[in-house]
Amino acid sequence: MITVKAPGKLYIAGEYAVVEPGYEAIVVAVDQFVTVSIEQAQKFGTINSKQYQETSVFWQRKGNQLVIDNRDNPFEYILSSIKYTEEYALEKRHELALFDLTVNSQLDSDDGKKYGLGSSAAVTVATVRALSEFYQLHLSAEEIFKLAAISHFKVQNNGSFGDLAASVYGGWIAYQSPDRQWLTNMLASRPLVEVIQLPWPQLKVEPLQFPPDLNLLIGWSGKPASTPILVDQIATSRAHAAQHYQEFLHASRQCLQMMITGFKQQNSQVIKQQLTVNRQLLRDLANFSGVTIETKKLTQLCEIALHHGAAAKSSGAGGGDCGIAVINADPKVRQALLADWQQHQIQPLNFNVYSLQKD
Ligand code: MEV
Repeated sequence: MITVKAPGKLYIAGEYAVVEPGYEAIVVAVDQFVTVSIEQAQKFGTINSKQYQETSVFWQRKGNQLVIDNRDNPFEYILSSIKYTEEYALEKRHELALFDLTVNSQLDSDDGKKYGLGSSAAVTVATVRALSEFYQLHLSAEEIFKLAAISHFKVQNNGSFGDLAASVYGGWIAYQSPDRQWLTNMLASRPLVEVIQLPWPQLKVEPLQFPPDLNLLIGWSGKPASTPILVDQIATSRAHAAQHYQEFLHASRQCLQMMITGFKQQNSQVIKQQLTVNRQLLRDLANFSGVTIETKKLTQLCEIALHHGAAAKSSGAGGGDCGIAVINADPKVRQALLADWQQHQIQPLNFNVYSLQKD
């Protein structure tokens, strides 16, 4: 039996801008995992998951039609990962086999809580990794990222792949998303193996070090949100607010460049300042697009954190899920902030950063 795991992630800064090719975000892997096991089967294969039986389904109304949105359904990502990894294996002349695949997710807990920590990315990466071992494909980290990105893209179609990068490479990362139009054209015209081997325009993954005098705290707002739906809503609003959107992109790029420099110079003050700037940029984006990014609960989470001297913001697409606080490493302040969150029904998630070197 083959068993592999892939970590979840948090966005630190650069959300929404990073969906555009060439724009950066900072992401970090956390020590909560999706585990995938594969065992050879006879006659028919199975896909099994205790947690995913309780999967939430998002739906929208288009005119009078009820439209189910399957882009948050983990089984879609598993099936897509199987499809593309097997297509790759076939092009490399490997023989395919039947298997039982079992998923266990700490990111979607047994009591049905969905934290929004990149579960769809982690399950995609874990499935590609497990199949790479099963078929002995000997894929490098970059090849796993690219195969996972293609599998994910074919389901979600509007994401930056930043959460996949965190899940593949671990640790703190400055990430820049590739050109998805280029990728679409390549997938339509070239064999998969060739697309994986080509350099992808604009894609950049650079490891960062978090200054040791800072702590990262995570709070869960208690409400799940759908990233693909929120990204679609922002994309739709872009047409009516093109000028504002360009200004947002420009300011986000500047903010991220300063923040990444802050990481490189281990300047905690700059990192905290730019986190606050990024929060404001996302609030501006929410205002001119009419999309709720920082919910009332997330605003409360940020205000409590600010009161304790932290810099804070929503993490990821918002609309619920998690918020983060970056605070000077002081156990007393940390305890006081976490207790304050708890008192206001914000659940502290006691997760640590996950680096691959720890394995
Ligand atoms: C969601 O976790 C972060 C967004 O930037 C979307 C993406 O990068 O795919 C909003």
